[in-house]
Amino acid sequence: MASIPTIPLNSGAHIPQVGLGVWQAPSGAVTRNAVLAALRWGYRHIDTARIYGNEQDVGEAVRSSGIPRDEIFVTTKLWNEDQGYDSALRAFDDSLERLGLEYIDLYLLHWPVPGKRLDSWRALERLFDEKRARSIGVSNFLVPHLTELLGRAKHVPAANQIELTPFLQRRETRALCKQQGIVVEAYSPLVRGQRFSHPVVREVARGVGRSPAQVLLRWGIQHGVVVLPKSTHPERIEENGDLFDFALDDAAMQKLDALEEGLTTGWDPARER
Ligand SMILES: NC(=O)c1ccc[n+]([C@@H]2O[C@H](COP(=O)([O-])OP(=O)(O)OC[C@H]3O[C@@H](n4cnc5c(N)ncnc54)[C@H](OP(=O)(O)O)[C@@H]3O)[C@@H](O)[C@H]2O)c1
Repeated sequence: MASIPTIPLNSGAHIPQVGLGVWQAPSGAVTRNAVLAALRWGYRHIDTARIYGNEQDVGEAVRSSGIPRDEIFVTTKLWNEDQGYDSALRAFDDSLERLGLEYIDLYLLHWPVPGKRLDSWRALERLFDEKRARSIGVSNFLVPHLTELLGRAKHVPAANQIELTPFLQRRETRALCKQQGIVVEAYSPLVRGQRFSHPVVREVARGVGRSPAQVLLRWGIQHGVVVLPKSTHPERIEENGDLFDFALDDAAMQKLDALEEGLTTGWDPARER
């Protein structure tokens, strides 16, 4: 079975460097089968969220996999309308119940909601102190959001999950995270399929004899981030995890590093004050 390396978090936990994303994986058998296919192949990290509507299926697959709970890393996220101190605590309980788990490995603030994110963070700190969330972190936090949080926080976030690809590199955010010991997680690392035919990506893929998807993911791995590719197809799930028996040389990395174009495929948190 394949083995995926882990990265240490400031909580003392270790996060597998590839996680299966399940955003837009339909609830029911499709999500359950994708999670089971991933776990069978060797993934040990699943990234869900309350707003994805499939926490229950993720939990069922994790529990029925036969793999010990402490070998699987499960992330879920606090959705925007649940932000605030008391409502965040309630939302966490609801997520835990849907997942059918005793604890969450990583609980994230999904979005830097203005006026609420600091209260929400205090709730996550409490969940961490109570060991119900083994690590806590944020998502879509850029430098201004992180700076504000770091000025108030008791606990530094363990991770920051942001959109990150060669076409959107968030260099300042990554530099601040590195300085603070915050692990960066790359979401939409396949650019949601929008750049597989980019000539540079194709050229690099030809050079290493791998697929464009593997090149995009390997770029993130070599930058030391966690990558969260989503697929519901077993053969793609396998392809997306199979990143550790090849490397991109300096010239290939430089070509990919030169592709920055500020491309956001979803929402841009830069607009959030
Ligand atoms: N924190 C946040 O705000 C946030 C926002 C967005 C995403 N995320 C997380 O990041 C995960 C990944 O991001 P994403 O779902 O936006 O997009 P993504 O992983 O960049 O791309 C997913 C798309 O690529 C296709 N695909 C997957 N592997 C492929 C392969 N090897 N070859 C060709 N096509 C392939 C998938 O189709 P099939 O499924 O049909 O294979 C799907 O259409 C999400 O699932 C979620 O967990 C977090």
